[in-house]
Amino acid sequence: MESGQTLTSVGSDVHPCPGSVGRTETRTNGHSRPDAVNRTPPSVRLKNWESGSLLYDILHRQAPPECPCSETRCLGSLVFPRPNAPRPSVGDQERLRQQAAEFLHSYYSTTTRAGTAAHEERRAQVEAEIGRTGRYRLTATELSFGAKQAWRNAARCVGRAHWSRLQIFDARDCASVEEMFEHICNHIKYSTNKGNIRSAITIFPPRCEGKGDFRVWNSQYIHYAGFAQPDGSVLGDGATVEITQLCEGLGWQPNRGRFTVLPLVLQVPGGEPTLFSLPPELVLEVELEHPQYEWFGELGLRWYGLPAVANMLLEVGGLEFPAAPFNGWYTAAEIGARNLGDTGRYDLLKRGGCPTDWVWVQPPISGSLTPLYHQEMLNYSLTPAFRYLMDPWKTPEWRAREEMLGKRRTIGFRQLARAVEFSSALMVQALARRVRVTILYATETGRAQTLAQKLCTLFSTTFNPKVQRMDEYDIANLEHETLLLVVASTFGNGDPPENGEAFAELLIAMTHPDSPTSQSRSYKARFNSLSEDDFEAFQDSVSESAGQLRTGPLASVRFGVFGLGSRAYPHFCAFARAVDTRLQELGGERLVPLGEGDELCGQDDLFRDWARTSFQAACESFCIEGAVDTGTRTDTDSSPDTPGGWSPDTCRISVVAEGPELVRALSQLHRRKTVQTRLLSRRNLQAPESGRRTVLVGLALPEGLSYQPGDHVGIHPDNPEDQVQRLLRRLESLPPRNDLVQLERLRDGPHPGRGRSWVPEPRLPPCTVSQALTHLLDITSPPSPDLLLLLASLNSDPQQQQRLITLGQGVVEYEQWRWAGPSLTEVLEEFSATRVPAALLLLHLPLLQPRYYSASSCPFTHPAELHLTVAVVEYRAQGGSGPLRHGVCSSWLDRISPGDLVCCYIRRAPLFRLPDDPRVPCVLVGPGTGVAPFRGFWQQRLFEIQHRGQAPCPMTLVFGCRRSDQDHIYREEMLEARDMGVFTEICTAYSRDQNTKVYVQDVLRERLAEQLYRSLHTLRGHLYVCGDVTMAQDVSRVVQEILAAQGGLSLGQAAAYITGLKEENRYHEDIFGVTLRTREVTTRVRSTSFTRWQEAKAGAGYV
Ligand SMILES: Cc1cc2nc3c(=O)[nH]c(=O)nc-3n(C[C@H](O)[C@H](O)[C@H](O)COP(=O)(O)OP(=O)(O)OC[C@H]3O[C@@H](n4cnc5c(N)ncnc54)[C@H](O)[C@@H]3O)c2cc1C
Ligand SMILES: Cc1cc2nc3c(=O)[nH]c(=O)nc-3n(C[C@H](O)[C@H](O)[C@H](O)COP(=O)(O)O)c2cc1C
Repeated sequence: MESGQTLTSVGSDVHPCPGSVGRTETRTNGHSRPDAVNRTPPSVRLKNWESGSLLYDILHRQAPPECPCSETRCLGSLVFPRPNAPRPSVGDQERLRQQAAEFLHSYYSTTTRAGTAAHEERRAQVEAEIGRTGRYRLTATELSFGAKQAWRNAARCVGRAHWSRLQIFDARDCASVEEMFEHICNHIKYSTNKGNIRSAITIFPPRCEGKGDFRVWNSQYIHYAGFAQPDGSVLGDGATVEITQLCEGLGWQPNRGRFTVLPLVLQVPGGEPTLFSLPPELVLEVELEHPQYEWFGELGLRWYGLPAVANMLLEVGGLEFPAAPFNGWYTAAEIGARNLGDTGRYDLLKRGGCPTDWVWVQPPISGSLTPLYHQEMLNYSLTPAFRYLMDPWKTPEWRAREEMLGKRRTIGFRQLARAVEFSSALMVQALARRVRVTILYATETGRAQTLAQKLCTLFSTTFNPKVQRMDEYDIANLEHETLLLVVASTFGNGDPPENGEAFAELLIAMTHPDSPTSQSRSYKARFNSLSEDDFEAFQDSVSESAGQLRTGPLASVRFGVFGLGSRAYPHFCAFARAVDTRLQELGGERLVPLGEGDELCGQDDLFRDWARTSFQAACESFCIEGAVDTGTRTDTDSSPDTPGGWSPDTCRISVVAEGPELVRALSQLHRRKTVQTRLLSRRNLQAPESGRRTVLVGLALPEGLSYQPGDHVGIHPDNPEDQVQRLLRRLESLPPRNDLVQLERLRDGPHPGRGRSWVPEPRLPPCTVSQALTHLLDITSPPSPDLLLLLASLNSDPQQQQRLITLGQGVVEYEQWRWAGPSLTEVLEEFSATRVPAALLLLHLPLLQPRYYSASSCPFTHPAELHLTVAVVEYRAQGGSGPLRHGVCSSWLDRISPGDLVCCYIRRAPLFRLPDDPRVPCVLVGPGTGVAPFRGFWQQRLFEIQHRGQAPCPMTLVFGCRRSDQDHIYREEMLEARDMGVFTEICTAYSRDQNTKVYVQDVLRERLAEQLYRSLHTLRGHLYVCGDVTMAQDVSRVVQEILAAQGGLSLGQAAAYITGLKEENRYHEDIFGVTLRTREVTTRVRSTSFTRWQEAKAGAGYV
């Protein structure tokens, strides 16, 4: 019994139920019957006589009032008690409506969404459908929920603790007996699983009044026949004599034996019962032996491995499914003690006569040894439920028909026996097509989406996959997934990408449903403050417990996770790791170990390996042999019908009359509310001698666009004009310069094989090729291995072609070559014998991503403007010896002229705000451009002091840069703000003003330790850190040391303290990425990354 479901402790003011525990006078689920409610005891006290403990059952109050027992008579031991016999079909619309409403209520309640708009909308939809058609259709998830609940509610099932692991095969689209048979074969194959039995249910169409039922006439999928002998004995199983005669009446001509497997008798509405012989390779049988007694083997006994009940009705939400065969597995003694022993079955035990009172004998020899025997329990029925059905040949309709045909006694169907040829290969394909695979991705810059789509291409060769972005996924579906694959990157400092945040929160909420706040963001608690070693230790501990029985809401879900990240960040792939462990903690079955791809090295290669392993594991898990060979390099992207694939015969551009304006095109492409504005002003903030540029960019604030200090501005840059022109010169099949073009793909029509037609490819909106290369596509990043392979196929020079093929393998050579950062233009110039059609680039290049900048102004002080503080990126590739490269967006912002258009959007950062109470102390740490959001903060405070009469604030700014005379941006503004009472103190760290380097973290340690501790601990203040990720990590370590030293804590306790601060939203981080010492950091980390890549491949047996 599961205490979570049935038993709730309600304290001492409970009223024991009078009379028989089997009788309950209750209100039905969801209906109020005020008179009955008052008479209903709130709970029934149940005692465990062994331990003395008490439990209180309240769930029985949801059971309907009908019950076979009365106060004076218990019918619990009857196998088919009357009220549980076949119920009249639904018919009554009002009843169906009520039952549907109750079911939906319990469905939405389990995901704590009862009463939400989604619930209401669904209820109204179902009501309308019932009104219109007299029926309704359950969604796939509702059906899955209902079937699992029915198992959970099955009072007589000993194995139902595993209810959440039930695999649902939805066969509601089945229309013929042949299809029924195919579904059943799939079911048997899946569940048998080469002997490692798995529970599953196949659900055929629901009962439809007046139309007859889908039925499996056999009581089990696999059963041995029972042949009645002239002497009255039975050859085989005594339980199946009747169905055996029926089958023979249908024309079955078996080799009669003790263990002859019966054929299936299947029927669809309006059709005749039809025979199907089970393919022998599907029926797993075990020859029975004894570990010590050889003679036992000589008895020639055997039994089949799969117990699958085929003749019960499933009732969900008032709908009845008369064919819903399900299977579990045999318990240890069932075959020997019951099937082979019972007199009505094989009757193999020698029995002698001796007087026995079984009521006395039974408990001492078995019941009392069973803990359950001592536990009082209640027996009542809940819906969804499985119910007994009358054998089809005993129903009044069938008897009437028999009579009409004048064949009262003999069973003579006109249908001849049909031995259906069984094709293993066909069956495998059919099964796989029915296995739904959900691929979720969370991405910030688009890589994870590209990889998710590749995964979809690979899986669509065999399965039924669907790709969804995490924030568009309804997490209520999670526990009803069959196979879930997640591709997710990590952002900030170990955080989910923005479109993964809600999923992360909900996953945590699912793991800790009862502690909404304390654990709510604990993926941060677990992964943000731990080192890589800690993660590995944690993973080991998880995998040790993984062998134990899996329970939990995701017990029937198989999953695999691939993380994208960079080892240049302290919390490598933290989000993917969090998702992977959470899914396991929730009971999911990990199909494949977590894959991790480091953008610095080998990301594509490791992804390919992981995708291939996942695919093979999925095939194995669903017993799909002979699936496509996945060993080749391009199988994750070779389909011409996916964005990754390309062929000149299936992809083209055609000229169209009109297209959207740029801002709309960008909005659609990036699914953001993008607006168009203009550059107002630009000013270099650094001294000319510094050799670097940081510019203050002023944008006009378009009407209707609002922001707050701390928010980010997403800027859509243009690619450099000269690169676009050089690239255009290399392209073939270019339409006239100003023609708007639309990308098109040749696709199959709705009816396979009946014609193909050109359809617009939604990847890009209509635009000129030049616009696409300027505004929409990324032409400066090194081309991907896939693109290099495509270029190889278009190259006419054997040497160049060979080199492109080598690079296109995406392994070591590629990674070394990529390190130099060649742009597409450079590649096409180097591999000059490549003829590139424009369509290929439009289809294949990644989207040009927007770049984020912190809002560097406050709308109070600059109502019509939005300021950015932009460090202009310029560097030499190849460790400093390569060609000069310019950051796309920062250089563009530094290049455009006042009045030029800028497309942008606001990304809210609600967790990076000044506290509402200005008296709460704040410490702001922002070296270099990290000071950007703090300019907005100080402008806000200055405005409040000057115009709203606010008192000066306890706020400290810690700023750092190289040299006081060259790089101290906003110096005058800062000092003015301090003089006006915004800052109590401004501390600076000029790293190159003296011989020893001094950074912001040194200032914290040496000058602000006491103050910081007092601010954070005593005064419950806030700490803000903004800028480069390495700096943020260094600051975090120093804060940890300070807390430990000042507060008398161990370093571990101090780390936990920091986690607590983050949970309370008092430790804020705004991470720009690796912006400081980029070359040094990435060079250093890259060699580790390379080693890890090779280790990962070797560990997984790839190299
Ligand atoms: C939330 C957030 C807020 C941000 N706020 C700001 C802000 O307020 N101000 C600001 O200036 N930036 C900010 N950034 C960074 C900004 O978004 C851009 O990343 C930055 O301007 C570079 O973009 P780009 O297009 O000019 O360069 P890209 O074309 O994107 O090139 C940058 C890439 O060049 C490479 N690179 C750079 N330097 C070197 C080097 N020395 N050696 C080798 N490779 C190198 C790195 O791979 C780097 O990723 C923020 C980032 C985030 C995520
Ligand atoms: C601002 C920023 C922060 C990042 N933070 C992390 C991090 O904490 N951990 C990590 O492993 N990778 C981090 N990354 C690297 C990304 O996860 C990596 O670039 C990934 O390939 C991006 O995939 P996507 O395009 O699907 O978002 C960060 C990248 C940026 C630009």
